[in-house]
Amino acid sequence: MSKIYGYGENQVKALDHASFSIEKGEFVLIVGSSGSGKSTLLNMIGLLDRPTNGKVFIDGVDTTKLTENKISSFRNKKLGFIFQFSNLLTDLTVLENVLLPRQIGGTNGSAEKDARDLLKTVGLEPQLNKRANKISGGQAQRVAIARGLINNPSIVLADEPTGNLDSVTSDNVVQLMKSMAKKLHQTFIIVTHEPEHFGDVDKIITIKDGKAFEGSEQTKKMEVIA
Ligand SMILES: Nc1ncnc2c1ncn2[C@@H]1O[C@H](COP(=O)(O)OP(=O)(O)O)[C@@H](O)[C@H]1O
Ligand SMILES: [Mg+2]
Repeated sequence: MSKIYGYGENQVKALDHASFSIEKGEFVLIVGSSGSGKSTLLNMIGLLDRPTNGKVFIDGVDTTKLTENKISSFRNKKLGFIFQFSNLLTDLTVLENVLLPRQIGGTNGSAEKDARDLLKTVGLEPQLNKRANKISGGQAQRVAIARGLINNPSIVLADEPTGNLDSVTSDNVVQLMKSMAKKLHQTFIIVTHEPEHFGDVDKIITIKDGKAFEGSEQTKKMEVIA
């Protein structure tokens, strides 16, 4: 896919024929320097914006062919989001925050049980009924992870999910995402500038000047040397 912002002299080619595929269950990092096009890429995969050219397939569906209406419900059903700032609604409780994406998609009987189970798994059972502004930054990011998983999405997308956390908390959140991915066979696509904190992952995609290639900058250099 390619993505061009702006017009004429102000044009920015944020993505330039970036192309790759990700398999179900893979834990994938997207790396690259600031301004390289990582967030743009994530916004395309997250169906928050459309590419100027090219296609985005999710579960075999060419999402670029979906109407705006269909895109919203597809996004809500198929995608979970974790942001740098957890974006919790501070007037709601932890449990209510996790339930939100489920309510948008139409509540069903097991929603609350599922939310409680997820919160237990991320270690926040004691905080269930606390207001979201009464918990720590690390806890908030755990809530955001549970919220991202509540609709059992095909893909969880995260843009710098640890960017706002100290290194110990950041390590905990990374480990939690990795263990959830393994436990649920859940696809994760994570933009990060700290790939070294993630240890072994299934795939690293490096974005450079809007172009995508598999592997980290480091492995690319090593290939050149070899
Ligand atoms: N909404 C926008 N309008 C115009 N230019 C944008 C917009 N969003 C991003 N860009 C530009 O596109 C390029 C890629 O940005 P971005 O995807 O945010 O990079 P990254 O997340 O890797 O830092 C940058 O040059 C940025 O300034
Ligand atoms: Mg970014």
